[in-house]
Amino acid sequence: MNDRVAIPLSSIRKARPHPKGRAVDAAARAEIESLLGSAPRAPEYLIENLHRVQDRFGQLSAAHLAALAEAMKLSQAEVFEVATFYHHFDVVKEGEEAPAKVTVRVCDTLSCQMAGSVGLLDRLRTTLGANVRVVAAPCIGRCEEAPAVSVGQNAFGGATAEKVATMVKEGLVKAPKTNPIGYARYREEGGYKLWQACLAGERDLESVLKTMEDAGLRGLGGAGFPTGRKWRIVRGEAGPRHMAVNIDEGEPGTFKDRYYLERDPHRFLEGMLVAAWAVGIERIWIYLRDEYHGCRETLEKELALLKADAPGPLPQIELRRGAGAYICGEESAMIESIEGKRGMPRLRPPYVAQVGLFGRPTLEHNFETLFWVREILEKGAGGSRARGATGARGFAPSASRAG
Ligand code: FES
Repeated sequence: MNDRVAIPLSSIRKARPHPKGRAVDAAARAEIESLLGSAPRAPEYLIENLHRVQDRFGQLSAAHLAALAEAMKLSQAEVFEVATFYHHFDVVKEGEEAPAKVTVRVCDTLSCQMAGSVGLLDRLRTTLGANVRVVAAPCIGRCEEAPAVSVGQNAFGGATAEKVATMVKEGLVKAPKTNPIGYARYREEGGYKLWQACLAGERDLESVLKTMEDAGLRGLGGAGFPTGRKWRIVRGEAGPRHMAVNIDEGEPGTFKDRYYLERDPHRFLEGMLVAAWAVGIERIWIYLRDEYHGCRETLEKELALLKADAPGPLPQIELRRGAGAYICGEESAMIESIEGKRGMPRLRPPYVAQVGLFGRPTLEHNFETLFWVREILEKGAGGSRARGATGARGFAPSASRAG
């Protein structure tokens, strides 16, 4: 009865002549190879590479998705399910019509609705013509200047039907440049000295942690977890440790991330580096909303300047681009997305502080939390502006969703 016979799998499962799924079209293969060039092809870069295809071709055709799967050595099903998860990717199956060249997104979330965006949306749908796709969109991070609209990658507030029509007609579909305090000026004005003092041992770790705890800075996403305590917890986990910065918050009020980023990006980057020093972080990922195209250019440029002439040894820093999924404002969903997957929240425990990005202990922070680190550590726990309008301790000036 126990005479089992081992049959090698290879003898019953014949090797496929080509990978599972549709055959890859030769022209699509050549286009994808040329587009990717030397871009990384590890699975974690799937969303970055989908953006490359979407930006270049204005859509994700079935042929290009199959070719991308082949180039990245992923299954076609995996590429398809990730591509269809995110709102900013236009997946077009065989026989389907390609989307119009220009997409106009009209925010219909609370602040913009109160400013008349529903009427604006109706008007644009009937006046812009068949070559323009007009869609309702959730908050695009310009609530302070509602109603907000984006024409292609050009997002702006105070939108009227006439203004949108002019943008479309003149092909103004790129984000205007921002004019922040750049790297040279930030350093001239004393920037990065705090981080250098930490690296040089002129600031001791315990006093930094204590100041952060005493300042009571915390996120306001619900849990409101104290920043200083979070630093201690993640530091207590075995390395290597990672950091993930969430700039993909997408509801009314979170435009504050964009507001600060457009003006003083290095204040945030220095706070991030101080946190990395205090916690012993080796790699950092910054996850930025896809709606913030101008901020992305700013961050790319300023990060390049910082890396080229860094005032100290930098951890590895990568900038990642969201793709229009509101759920990715949730920390574990964001982590899934950084890993190149659908942004599905993870079950807890384990918490991301223990098992986060790529299975490592991860310090997750909202942009604004890190923005205030320099001020708190320079002025002391009692002297910081990082408190609420009523003077309540531990509140940053504006609400943020995750700490
Ligand atoms: S509610 Fe419209 S941009 Fe935020």
